[in-house]
Amino acid sequence: MTNFKRTLVTTALPYANGPVHIGHLAGVYVPADIYVRYLRLKGEDVLLIGGSDEHGVPITLKARKEGVKPQDIVDKYHGIIKESFKEFGISFDIYSRTSNKTHYETASQFFKTLYEKGEFIEKESEQYYDEEAHQFLADRYITGTCPHCGKDGAYGDQCESCGTSLNATDLIHPKSTISGSAPVLRKTKHWYLPLDKHESFLRQWILEDHKEWKPNVYGQCKSWIDLGLQPRAVSRDLDWGVPVPVEGAEGKVLYVWFDAPIGYISATRELTPEWEKYWKDPETRLLHFIGKDNIVFHCIVFPSMLKAEGSYNLPDNVPANEFLNLEGDKISTSRNWAVWLHEYLKDFKDQQDVLRYVLTANAPETKDNDFTWKDFQARNNNELVAIFGNFVNRSMVLTHKYYEGKIPVPNVFNDFDNETLNSIADIVKRTEEALENFKFREAVKEAMSLARLGNKYLADSEPWKLIKTDADRVSTIMYVALQITANLAVLMEPFLPFTALKLRNMLNMDNIDWQDCGQKEILKPGHIIGEAVLLFQKIEDEAIQMQLDKLAQSKKDNETAAKTANPIKENISFDDFSKMDIRVGTILEAEKVAKTKKLLKLKIDTGIDQRTVVSGIAEYFSPEAIVGKQVSILVNLAPRNIKGINSQGMILMAEDADGKLVFVNPSDKVKNGSEIK
Ligand code: MF3
Ligand code: ZN
Repeated sequence: MTNFKRTLVTTALPYANGPVHIGHLAGVYVPADIYVRYLRLKGEDVLLIGGSDEHGVPITLKARKEGVKPQDIVDKYHGIIKESFKEFGISFDIYSRTSNKTHYETASQFFKTLYEKGEFIEKESEQYYDEEAHQFLADRYITGTCPHCGKDGAYGDQCESCGTSLNATDLIHPKSTISGSAPVLRKTKHWYLPLDKHESFLRQWILEDHKEWKPNVYGQCKSWIDLGLQPRAVSRDLDWGVPVPVEGAEGKVLYVWFDAPIGYISATRELTPEWEKYWKDPETRLLHFIGKDNIVFHCIVFPSMLKAEGSYNLPDNVPANEFLNLEGDKISTSRNWAVWLHEYLKDFKDQQDVLRYVLTANAPETKDNDFTWKDFQARNNNELVAIFGNFVNRSMVLTHKYYEGKIPVPNVFNDFDNETLNSIADIVKRTEEALENFKFREAVKEAMSLARLGNKYLADSEPWKLIKTDADRVSTIMYVALQITANLAVLMEPFLPFTALKLRNMLNMDNIDWQDCGQKEILKPGHIIGEAVLLFQKIEDEAIQMQLDKLAQSKKDNETAAKTANPIKENISFDDFSKMDIRVGTILEAEKVAKTKKLLKLKIDTGIDQRTVVSGIAEYFSPEAIVGKQVSILVNLAPRNIKGINSQGMILMAEDADGKLVFVNPSDKVKNGSEIK
């Protein structure tokens, strides 16, 4: 890496159709930010690029559902997302968006260049078209019966009941979600990036020249390449996106995965007139921070685009992470199974670093990992508070107490002091090594071990005991403790920027530089430190319980939603309906059916006869409460034997999603036997 003059770091552009959650932070933005802060501290030339991905079908679907324009959706979420990142200290040099003008120009120009160089193939294919809405339908705009499981409501790209991925043309009885009409197949022309043509280059460039990439990244690339690459369509029939800039392409836009990565370039252009230096100078190193679902686009598709264009650098590394789960379940926006950053900021005010710390210490670097609130609490209370916070507080408070806040002149260093001071540089070195290899879990663990070292040093040296008997020793001890504290203020900056800043202010350190890190004397004797404030606060059980309750509520809401979402049954004819003879009757008697929980035996006056009906309502109604009530009863249901009782008919009940039952009865008193039709 020493051969590079500068580094360009990009972070996956999150879709602007919802807020961001801990999974985003853990997988992409915190690691990228740590890395960039580290390089900046070393004085390197580095840019951190981010922005919102504002195209794609899900955004148009959401807009349609809410009756607003796609631009309204992305305006809203771009704002929320940008703010969340800022609050968490993600130090973007620019956070842009793909619906802006610079991006339209850049993406358009990029396409044109490839088009003019003959890097695309044009192909006609048949796609579903809605003749009422006069538009081609994206897969998500088509629903129908799943050919695999037979359930209705499968989408043109996937059946969510059985999980099978589908082609729109696989659906039985396809239906447009826009007009409800049956779509027809129509010819349409699209442009394809012939990935197959780039295969041998990709094979060499990734599989031979980048064996150092993370195993999860390398492995995914290898299996894609080994499976054989196919041409990929880079345009779509859609009215939201960057228009395809060639003649005869009216109504077509660039495919979102074609324009989004170009967003990295657009944002750099927007940021600096020197953007080309960051993208084209071979002495610039390009790094993409992403989640694992983005690997193929950043390692295969985008590099093929860049290579085809010809003037850009290719990524030097793509340190993709795996996924973060939450309390044992996959994070899901639609099921509201997530910790939303904007909500965390309200619930844990000024505790951004705690989340940064936990997400780094438990980052899904090599495999999927689980975030639990208990672990969050434990790491805060047992590590940040009990080790880091405690050590810093003791050092500061004792220095104020014994030396009026002035760093003492050390006297003789004994072996323990020397050993401790020497360990600082070792820890720093190991932290650096981990950082340079994108091993952020390991890096933060190392950094934390410096606080552990300090904590142990103070506990073992016991200056509070020696102060009466051996004041000389104490000045050395406090000197050493403060050098460790000052080292922490630098070493922790990439991981815990808010805390590091607080600490620097407390210590009256102005400029910091990574070069200081590992030094035995950062603060000179005589240097005056400021007041000690607590760096971390204990998180109580109640705060954790509140979060667990919130998640439990999400679970419940989902179960309810799943029940309410029972699809409407298939159409029946009026004749079918007329077959049912439903009457108004009155409950004359009611008693519990022995040895059952749910059943009541009812005697009903139907206006024609008196009959016995067994009904499963005992959990909701006591016999006394319902005698005399008018009800609706299906009188021509074939008699059934229930628990040895001949039940003649069925009482109609409405059941809500929680399983609560209420009677369906006439709103005014009517004669028994009145027909319901
Ligand atoms: N929006 C995509 C996602 O959230 C990521 C886009 S990354 C970019 O999965 F490179 F295309 F910008
Ligand atoms: Zn299915």
